[in-house]
Amino acid sequence: MPTAGSDSTSETEIGVYWKEEELIHPPTRFIAQANMADPNIFERFKEENFPECFKEYADLLSWDRYWSTTLDTSNPPFWKWFVGGKLNASYNCVDRHLRKYKNKAAIIWIPEQEDEPDQVLTYQELHNRVNEFALVLRDFAGLKKGDRVTFHLPMIPALPISMLAAARLGIIHNQVFGGFSAKACAERIQDSESHVLVTCDGYCRNGQLLDKKMDADLTVEEAKKLGSDVKKVLVWRRYPDKYLSKSPMVAGRDYFIDDLLKEFRGKRAEPVSMDAEDPLFLMYSSGSTGRPKGCQHRTGGYLAYVAGTSKYVQDIHPEDVYWCFADIGWITGHSYIVYGPLSLAATTVMYEGVPLFPDAGRPWRIAERLGVDIFHTAPTTIRMMRKAGSNEPKKYNYHFKCMTTVGEPIEPEVWRWYYYVVGKGEAIITDTWWLTESGGFLCSTLPALQPMKPGSAGTGMPGIYPVIYDDGGKEIRRGQGRAGNICIRNPWPGIMQTIWGDPERFVRQYYSKYCMNPNSTNWKDWPWMAGDGAVQAEDGYYRILGRIDDVIKVAGHRLGTKELENASLTTPEISEAAAIALTDELRGHVPVIYASLKPGIIPSKEIAEKVVANIAKELGPIAKPRAVYLVPDLPKTRSGKIMRRVLASISNSKDYGDITTLANPDIVETIRKMVQGDKAVNK
Ligand code: WT7
Repeated sequence: MPTAGSDSTSETEIGVYWKEEELIHPPTRFIAQANMADPNIFERFKEENFPECFKEYADLLSWDRYWSTTLDTSNPPFWKWFVGGKLNASYNCVDRHLRKYKNKAAIIWIPEQEDEPDQVLTYQELHNRVNEFALVLRDFAGLKKGDRVTFHLPMIPALPISMLAAARLGIIHNQVFGGFSAKACAERIQDSESHVLVTCDGYCRNGQLLDKKMDADLTVEEAKKLGSDVKKVLVWRRYPDKYLSKSPMVAGRDYFIDDLLKEFRGKRAEPVSMDAEDPLFLMYSSGSTGRPKGCQHRTGGYLAYVAGTSKYVQDIHPEDVYWCFADIGWITGHSYIVYGPLSLAATTVMYEGVPLFPDAGRPWRIAERLGVDIFHTAPTTIRMMRKAGSNEPKKYNYHFKCMTTVGEPIEPEVWRWYYYVVGKGEAIITDTWWLTESGGFLCSTLPALQPMKPGSAGTGMPGIYPVIYDDGGKEIRRGQGRAGNICIRNPWPGIMQTIWGDPERFVRQYYSKYCMNPNSTNWKDWPWMAGDGAVQAEDGYYRILGRIDDVIKVAGHRLGTKELENASLTTPEISEAAAIALTDELRGHVPVIYASLKPGIIPSKEIAEKVVANIAKELGPIAKPRAVYLVPDLPKTRSGKIMRRVLASISNSKDYGDITTLANPDIVETIRKMVQGDKAVNK
């Protein structure tokens, strides 16, 4: 496998190492029941029929008012979808299913502790809870349409309830991944200008009870330093009438949600009819510069797109028990645990904990017990489950009909284990390539219509027209074995609207490189650059190679090198830092930090440990580096640019190539000896 990241092998090299894999055809049993087995779909969604083809997705929703214009391109690249239409996302995911499905499980929540009972929310129960909490947000917290509310919640039922309650009133939710630090949460509160924080007292992870309310106190403090005033902290209790946290409740600021709910028991909050273009939520994501950006997603286009892709790619029927083993704190969970499946009246399973708790059989026991038939997870989880229990799936009597992989490239070997062992050779696999920015899948096979190829993300989804450009903007055609920058030539309903508060950055980041004419209102002049390297095989299938910008994907989580470097620099002894991606068997990549010290400071284990602690504090424990090397100097170009590529080659034991043009070529050998000679200060 070639490595991903900004510091990886050259494009041609990547192409050369790629071996073609065999095609695997879907079982007839799958095709017979598939939502999309009509090959005509490719015809219906081809370019001549764009953008009207997306009516097919929008028609999966219930609209208060039908739209008049499918796509408005008058102000590129700020596309508008289903203009004139009105709808409510919460209504579409809950209310409209009551007539037929009120007694059906909407959400089944599995606590990490195996002896603790599941919580099953029927559509009726979900409706009750969403309405009651919406009233708390509206009548107690004073929030209204267009306001932002920040959630810092782990995988507990309160999270989807909170999201749907906000969506019901047009309050823009901003869920921050539960594993992110208080500081990261505070930055997102400040950037989104929210004044209400919704959190919980605690949750279970890897057999431990974690105190979440403590984080909230820190978050409020950190937000204050950034000039942001958190007026109210609303605290869900994991077990009502038990308080799991050690942190005291601050009078006039902190409130237990179960107390507040008493006033609203049985009451209803009318869903607010939203314009299709009104924002539904923000999801912050790392990019090439320091600050994470708030990807702003629209109501109509987003919901239509996730409903369509959930139905046709994940093959969700209302009868299915669907388990997306991801965190709702990421876009995967928003789109494919909450909004997609619930818009289709599915039963969506949520698991609180880690894959291997208490042992490697856990995921398969859950699948067996609940009769899960659709399973969705990330390569890093698949690798972990394979390593810890490659024969475990055989011991359990579950049967999947389809499985999805998402978040990073999957090695063909790992793919085959997923297919033959986890899927028992009975389930199709969709390898879905997409991003926080895209709202939903961009490339995948349509499972009943296209064969699978291990390690390949298939073709562009219906209505998605990818293209690969080289750095000079020349198209790299299929079958050349050469990689380039994958772009999507057209807008689609799920694409983010803009970067919250920074529309210029939106244009710069995704469009400036390949825009053909900035004055044009024709979408064909505005290819969207995803930020990934990719190769297209002769048969049209794309293989995604990983990020070409300064983003490191760690266990499927996206981290910016700049964020890691900024966090390292909060250590007073550090003068300069460079973050690079080290290839890792389980996690895909892990960060490694190279840092130089201020004059007169002597390297020590303590300083290196401080760097690790500061990164965990600034960004969260998921960002912890594997190693911190305190080096005399960082390799630099004559213009002073840090050569991360050279450092990455050293860490990954690869040839670092020609360094003669560097300002300080000698340092490279010194660093190499430190690292490969195993003299790291901290390993
Ligand atoms: C980056 C986006 C998409 C939801 C979860 C991640 C990588 C995503 C695949 C795949 C190879 C993939 C890309 C992309 N990626 N899916 N199927 N094969 N790489 O969203 O955190 O915004 O990350 O994840 O590098 O750019 P995200």
